[in-house]
Amino acid sequence: MGKIIVMDHPLIQHKLSILRDVKTPSKEFRALISEIANLICYDATRDLPLEEVEVETPICRTKAKMLSGKKVAVVPILRAGLGMVDGMLTLLPSAKVGHIGLYRDPDTLQPVEYYCKLPADIEQREVFVVDPMLATGGSAIDAISQIKKRGPKHIKFLGIIAAPEGLDALSKAHPDVDIIVASLDEKLNDHGYIVPGLGDAGDRIFGTK
Ligand code: PRP
Ligand code: URA
Repeated sequence: MGKIIVMDHPLIQHKLSILRDVKTPSKEFRALISEIANLICYDATRDLPLEEVEVETPICRTKAKMLSGKKVAVVPILRAGLGMVDGMLTLLPSAKVGHIGLYRDPDTLQPVEYYCKLPADIEQREVFVVDPMLATGGSAIDAISQIKKRGPKHIKFLGIIAAPEGLDALSKAHPDVDIIVASLDEKLNDHGYIVPGLGDAGDRIFGTK
């Protein structure tokens, strides 16, 4: 069974409260999404393997630890997932980036795929799928199914706000996937929006409404 982590770090909680505020403009909203993604990434990478190396300090030679060259890929779910990419790449500058384009049909709430471009060597990589919102879970489930067809080493889903319904659906559909989010909210409303949530993440990042 994959791990489910709801991060309770005070910095994340503080930034999330500003993010939720309907008065927060797109410029600040984008910056906050990126900062929260960076903090989530810090936690999500805590089990990357290390290897011992020798380093010459100004004082002496010593044994030290470095990442053991494990390859990673970041895959945002378009559009809103794009907002998390910079924050991830600040900590993982050598990661490759794939893209999966999905939108939710407003009537059926079912994900509709329109784009998929993944790193050619994804089967050698640990994959971080990023999307700020996990609502019904349909988009994340579909994106992860697409990625799994290419046989990556392991997948983690990193989100900012999850609804209980989405968390439950994702962990049942992909029990091997670790899920890390900054908040588990109350519920979904009749239109499939997370309550209290933050509204439409894509529209708020890109200022399209
Ligand atoms: C949003 C969000 C997720 C999806 C979550 O995308 O970014 O991808 O909804 O909902 P779900 O868990 O019920 O599938 P949206 O469909 O609004 O597309 P956009 O990012 O292009 O605006
Ligand atoms: N997508 C969003 O952007 N927000 C929600 O609350 C649900 C799905």
